[in-house]
Amino acid sequence: MTRIALTVNGEGREAEVQARQLLVYFLREQLGLTGTNVGCDTSSCGACTVLLDGESVKSCTVLAVQADGSEVTTIEGLARGGGELHPVQQAFHEQHGVQCGYCTPGFVMATVSLLKDNPRPSEAEIRHALEGNLCRCTGYHNIVRAVEAAARAGA
Ligand code: FES
Ligand code: FES
Repeated sequence: MTRIALTVNGEGREAEVQARQLLVYFLREQLGLTGTNVGCDTSSCGACTVLLDGESVKSCTVLAVQADGSEVTTIEGLARGGGELHPVQQAFHEQHGVQCGYCTPGFVMATVSLLKDNPRPSEAEIRHALEGNLCRCTGYHNIVRAVEAAARAGA
């Protein structure tokens, strides 16, 4: 076991983890942050996307020990106080970018990362940036509209 210390959603956390423990299972099983989903476990679907030091990563491709000393943001860390949704979450809600919702935390986190780097992406840039995230429900059209709306809202 290895002791790690990191910041998750603004809160300092310390834990003992196995060297082979994936970050996604550390978040879900040791910290109880089950908003980050596991769709494939093989870096294909993007459901497990979180921010690691501000950059989106698929947390099934990162070992928990690799996050030692880092800052992690999950979907639970986005909403502002008083239950107010983050502008990207609000845009997904308003543009009907959610059906079953399984992929949504990953899309939202990937979108937050995209808009940080490129606040007004074109449709082509949005589709390119989100190509690592898969949705089995919406057909992507409303997801792209949601990202465009979030950009307009200055997310
Ligand atoms: Fe990580 Fe699918 S669970 S990419
Ligand atoms: Fe169901 Fe995307 S909303 S998988």
